[in-house]
Amino acid sequence: MHGVVNIDDLRKLAKKRLPKIAYDFIEGGTDDEVALTTNEQAFRQARIVPRYLVDVTVRDQSTTLFGRTYSSPIGIAPTGLAGLFRRGADLMLAQAARDANVPFIMSGSSTASIEALGKLAPDHGWYQLYSAKDQSISEDMIKRAGDAGLKTLVFTVDVPEGSNRERNTRNGWGRPLKLTWSTRLEALKHPAWMLEWLRHGTPYFDNWAKYAPANDANSIADFVATQNRAPMTWKHVERYRELWKGNFVLKGIMHPDDAVRAHSLGVDGIMVSNHGARQLDRAPSPLQVLPAVRDAVGDKMTLMLDGGIRRGFDALIALCTGAKFCFVGRPTLYGVTAGGRPGAAMALSIFRREIDISMAQMGATCIADLGPQCLMWNDEAGPRTTELRSLKRVSHGGER
Ligand SMILES: Cc1cc2nc3c(=O)[nH]c(=O)nc-3n(C[C@H](O)[C@H](O)[C@H](O)COP(=O)(O)O)c2cc1C
Repeated sequence: MHGVVNIDDLRKLAKKRLPKIAYDFIEGGTDDEVALTTNEQAFRQARIVPRYLVDVTVRDQSTTLFGRTYSSPIGIAPTGLAGLFRRGADLMLAQAARDANVPFIMSGSSTASIEALGKLAPDHGWYQLYSAKDQSISEDMIKRAGDAGLKTLVFTVDVPEGSNRERNTRNGWGRPLKLTWSTRLEALKHPAWMLEWLRHGTPYFDNWAKYAPANDANSIADFVATQNRAPMTWKHVERYRELWKGNFVLKGIMHPDDAVRAHSLGVDGIMVSNHGARQLDRAPSPLQVLPAVRDAVGDKMTLMLDGGIRRGFDALIALCTGAKFCFVGRPTLYGVTAGGRPGAAMALSIFRREIDISMAQMGATCIADLGPQCLMWNDEAGPRTTELRSLKRVSHGGER
């Protein structure tokens, strides 16, 4: 970890540790990877206009979300298969989040259990649900999250079907794996990762073990594959809302009409997200649609955002644009891959430090100082009123 200054340094270390097939799984988007570029570029279209002659010697980035005060406005988004990049990564991420007092969302495809998360970080752990084809499994997982003491359930809605991840196809990723000889040979250049793989084999989807017909890692992984891509509709939202008594969040909402509908069904919060550009390659960036979503539901729902945040000021731009909180997926995966729990902690502390410095530079002493008055946009790609209007026009099509 020596010499790491920023998130990109962690990315480079993660890339070094992982075989190409695993690194590409983290890094890749879909199709032409246009959305991947758009997610990061959208932040670069914003400029923060500084205010001076403000005493910024004391700065506070703490943020209250669902009645709990976190030390920083950035949490860890759910990332499936983290244990493939470093064994035990899910709980290392959870520990790092707990120690930094920020939320950690356990993925529905995690390689650790809900119960372990409940023991380790009951106040910081959230659970992300993917609907299973067998509805009784989803409902049982919701019950388990409640029994484990978790207070926030995140239902990911933006995976209606597997997406076209061409990097994965070329590398032979999938179940069963179709590894080419070049993929295998390349993996040999990453001995630390290879050793872990040889020692532990296929990652164990702990959460799914109780539903699978056999208890070994491969049978469970095969079983999980049969449960993926379950049809999801608003009926599922209604049902899960009914079952879950805590904070209920939809992840992957991009359209203002969907936000309005979610609100009407009693959803508490939305993560405006395009799944880190891993689903629809011509989707806009979450930052671009945030103003329209905000316009549609105002303060009635808690709006959060992820996708493309690589610097502290990216998070500040999202907050100025109307998000209450931000999440990152890849940056903390880079951290945990590169350096385990200390690596994940380092990713969080890099963001924390960059936010702190940027707040001082822009003349903000607390999160309440942030708002659209702090920003100017230098390109059509930024969230501007023209885009707002066009999105509103689409929304007149009515509910689907
Ligand atoms: C390797 C990887 C695995 C992911 N797995 C999940 C998942 O299991 N559930 C989910 O809702 N989102 C998943 N995501 C999306 C993230 O939660 C998040 O939306 C995205 O990574 C944010 O973009 P960023 O990586 O640019 O920060 C995954 C993303 C990555 C990179």
